Amino acid sequence: MVKVRKAVIPAAGLGTRFLPATKAMAKEMLPIVDKPTIQFIVEEALKSGIEDILIVTGKAKRPIEDHFDANYELEANLKEKGKTELLKLVEETTDVNLHFIRQSHPRGLGHAVLQAKAFIGDEPFIVMLGDDLMEDEIPLTRQLMDDYETTHASTIAVMKVPHEDTSKYGIINPGEEVEPGLYNVKDFVEKPKPEKAPSDLAIIGRYLLTPEIFQVLETQAPGAGNEIQLTDAIDRLNKTQRVFAHQFTGKRYDVGDKFGFMKTSIEYGLKHPEVKDNLKEYIINLGHELEAQDQPQAPKTEK
Ligand code: G1P
Repeated sequence: MVKVRKAVIPAAGLGTRFLPATKAMAKEMLPIVDKPTIQFIVEEALKSGIEDILIVTGKAKRPIEDHFDANYELEANLKEKGKTELLKLVEETTDVNLHFIRQSHPRGLGHAVLQAKAFIGDEPFIVMLGDDLMEDEIPLTRQLMDDYETTHASTIAVMKVPHEDTSKYGIINPGEEVEPGLYNVKDFVEKPKPEKAPSDLAIIGRYLLTPEIFQVLETQAPGAGNEIQLTDAIDRLNKTQRVFAHQFTGKRYDVGDKFGFMKTSIEYGLKHPEVKDNLKEYIINLGHELEAQDQPQAPKTEK
């Protein structure tokens, strides 16, 4: 059986939800406390045993390449000053087999994945979206790779979402549950309205795909939002070979919009050795202050 060795990270989006921060900067470089979001994704891939990663980039994405490259000046400076801990942090991002390709005309997620065709060749591979940070004992990407060892088929990570949110996601019609949390999926639908959604199980940004997806993507017509949707291509692939869904039970942090990003920053901050104690104290005090503000003011007594 062919091993899953490669991952693709689409990162060509314009990041409009974070404007003006993303006018001249890649949204993937926005940090959660002190680490760019894309570094979390790369770390998940490496922990899962992925050997080569292709990042599909676009305009204003050079900082991503620089981030994973050596910075000799900075390293020499930290060495000279004996800042070994910081030096370790700077160096640990450079030991990765990263490859880059530009998507000149962003035409949707399916189109971004199609750019990886030559890099992937004839192997099963992983797609990881940067808007979702996943936490579990076994990394989610590894969980999909473990499934592949028995199913030998495409397997897409899904999670239950509130029913009113189905129009933000690809949604599955789960079909038969072949083992706990593993579905032999009937249909995949991109961003259905709640009244049309076949379930509340949403695609959450980790995919294991067989290489046949590329032939499907090559002829995929634009779908929702007039974009070439990966979900539509997976639905067509499912007509010619089995596609499974793996229900994730760990914790998902959505850093794709402002509120999700802020919540993630706070929760990661509360785990970060350098700031956690101060942050906790700050949040508790802030809570008291906000509560006091919400109390009805006692009427002023007249003299
Ligand atoms: C993309 C996919 C969607 C998936 C979502 C997960 O949508 O098209 O199927 O559920 O990622 O984050 P986007 O968030 O890019 O609009």
